Amino acid sequence: MPAYQIASIPGDGIGPEVVDAAIQVVNKLAKTLGTFQIEFTHLPWGTAYYKEHGQYMSEGALDTLRQFDAGIFGSVGAPDVPDHISLWGLLLAMRGPLQLYANVRPVRTFPGTKSPLNTATQGIDWMLVRENSEGEYAGQGGRSHVGQEWEAATEVAMFTRVGIKRIMRFAFETAQSRPRKQLTVVTKSNAMRNGMVLWDEVAADVASDFPDVQWDKMLVDAMTVRMVMKPESLDTIVGTNLHMDVLSDLAAALAGSIGVAPSSNLDPTRKNPSLFEPVHGSAFDITGKGVANPVATFWSAAEMLTWIGEKDASAKLMQCVENVCRTGILTPDLGGSSTTRDVVDAVCAEIEKLKASTS
Ligand code: NAD
Ligand code: IPM
Ligand code: MN
Repeated sequence: MPAYQIASIPGDGIGPEVVDAAIQVVNKLAKTLGTFQIEFTHLPWGTAYYKEHGQYMSEGALDTLRQFDAGIFGSVGAPDVPDHISLWGLLLAMRGPLQLYANVRPVRTFPGTKSPLNTATQGIDWMLVRENSEGEYAGQGGRSHVGQEWEAATEVAMFTRVGIKRIMRFAFETAQSRPRKQLTVVTKSNAMRNGMVLWDEVAADVASDFPDVQWDKMLVDAMTVRMVMKPESLDTIVGTNLHMDVLSDLAAALAGSIGVAPSSNLDPTRKNPSLFEPVHGSAFDITGKGVANPVATFWSAAEMLTWIGEKDASAKLMQCVENVCRTGILTPDLGGSSTTRDVVDAVCAEIEKLKASTS
């Protein structure tokens, strides 16, 4: 029987609440199906760890992660530490150095969720592909004359042909694997005349290898309008690290709630373990209240199961989660009054029912 070792990094805020929920349902699934084994190892990285040790992760953290088949991450960010310290101390210290260059963010209107768009009669079904290793998140730039009147700061977006090409190929392949075979490439190549123009050029190059994929280009500002006004005209979408960060929150809200939005940080070469996490953050306003929606992390865990080779188990998990949402067991972000615990219990009860169908 296959056995998987998974790193669990719950982090801060509601991270521990939703990761704990996901581990419970995945363990229940593995036990019920009996077709694979899975073990989660807790890594205590986050703001509490930082306050004790002066750094967000332990020494040799990346090598520690490399011992696992994959990782599940909650969120990082605390009210009393500047966000750029916490994020560059943990999440961004994993994505870039591990070359998890493809951030995949599926977005669809989920049973029990309601799009705020009147036009979305069919619901939303998009696949967002975010470049996850360079661009505006390259960490380049600096400040001079700090605190003085003439202080200056630069934030340099760095794009490489190799980096663009690999995410573009990934996006075209993703589009090709979906029924509509349609890709929209998002840039800002009217105002940004270097990196964004290189994106356009590479997109055209790569497109010639995918004649069966219908593709078009959008400027990011106009893209926000299209997402709201013509959601049905979109399928797979690819863009830079920052553009897709913003568009993925918009997409999640348009589909119904950020509380259900999953993401996969993939190394498609499989040299490094990939990392699966909800799109949302620490959610200070609801931390400790027991009402965080665990669905985004369930869905991220399902994406992880697919990635490590348990496609059937992944589909079953999603079916169970959707059944629960359909029956109205929903957290407050989806208009319900259920707690995280209620949703976990209901999903576990659905998983229990699989026993009857598998035995
Ligand atoms: P956020 O995603 O934490 O919260 C935005 C809003 O969405 C809040 O009202 C929150 O209650 C709600 N929300 C988020 N997840 C939810 C869930 N599962 N169920 C129900 N409601 C949910 O974004 P923010 O407020 O901008 O960020 C808070 C902190 O988290 C900051 O420190 C930020 O840097 C960090 N952050 C971390 C990550 C990450 O680690 N991946 C992602 C985004 C933000
Ligand atoms: C996300 C988050 C992160 C990002 C932050 C917290 C650094 O917003 O995963 O979408 O910008 O990538
Ligand atoms: Mn974001």
